[in-house]
Amino acid sequence: MTSTGAKQAPHVPVLVNEVIGALAIHAGDTVVDGTFGAGGYTRAMLSAGAGRVIGFDRDPDAIKAGKALVPDPRLTLIEERFSQMDRVLAERGIGLVDSIALDIGVSSMQIDRSERGFSFQLDGPLDMRMSKAGLTAAEFLNAADEAEIARVLRDYGEEPRARAIARAIVRARPVERTAELAAIVRRAVGYRQGQKSDPATRTFQAIRIHLNAELDELEQGLAAAERYLRPGGRLAVVTFHSLEDRIVKRFFRERSGGSPAGSRHRPELHDPTEPTFERVAKPVSPTERELAANPRSRSARLRSAVRTSAPSWKETLQ
Ligand SMILES: C[S@@+](CC[C@H](N)C(=O)[O-])C[C@H]1O[C@@H](n2cnc3c(N)ncnc32)[C@H](O)[C@@H]1O
Repeated sequence: MTSTGAKQAPHVPVLVNEVIGALAIHAGDTVVDGTFGAGGYTRAMLSAGAGRVIGFDRDPDAIKAGKALVPDPRLTLIEERFSQMDRVLAERGIGLVDSIALDIGVSSMQIDRSERGFSFQLDGPLDMRMSKAGLTAAEFLNAADEAEIARVLRDYGEEPRARAIARAIVRARPVERTAELAAIVRRAVGYRQGQKSDPATRTFQAIRIHLNAELDELEQGLAAAERYLRPGGRLAVVTFHSLEDRIVKRFFRERSGGSPAGSRHRPELHDPTEPTFERVAKPVSPTERELAANPRSRSARLRSAVRTSAPSWKETLQ
């Protein structure tokens, strides 16, 4: 049942033409690909004439494979989280950039390798760490209490049966393999073979988002991009589910002056009348043609906007 990655399908980039269109790359531009993955976006950025692409990925395997996947002297690969991009670029003496793309989520290379533990369809160790560092999914599930597991399933998986699944996991501990976890979830919610969607999907998504702090990363990545785009520079973000899309939508609405940003909990340290983004584009979904060719693109959504010359909002500086 295991896959070692030897016969993996390559990662098919999602909404790549739309992303390249939104970035409006000019010859010689410096472009950041915040989520290098298998280099699909990077390749397209280089073909569009970018003078330099800086590719970030937090996954050491993606960075290791990257040079061979995209052998181009204009590419610099950096193993780092995109939330750190402004600090890392400044340390390397790279000034404000012309455009930035983020393609949130996991790559096919991660999903298809059973030993990474991301897939409920392949049996492997319960790992799910993109950076290969920190707590594994097994360590989390075997140590957390029932209420904490239920909270993660509810908050990051929008799982209506979170409590029942959390109880079943705690009863079955220790849980070490992806197939074990998938079976526990299916038993807890009464899954029948052939049912449209596997209930394990939501549980796996939730644990992955929690372990990798993906929503925090996204929020911080958007703020880092705001700090490191030149005036007139473009930001394009592709997400794969509503939790992420909501964050991007809210960010662009807030930063383009759509609603006041201050609150009792987050004091206003900036002038809310100075939008940092403009020309926020309507969200873009894959065409029927892309959906037919790549069903994985089903829930993808692209949002993009253009950086103004206003200073970045100080409240987001850490
Ligand atoms: C959907 S894939 C990107 C695929 C890429 N656009 C392509 O065309 O090949 C997402 C990639 O982003 C990486 N990633 C996820 N969160 C990250 C973060 N916070 N910082 C850096 N890389 C991240 C993952 O490790 C994964 O390789």
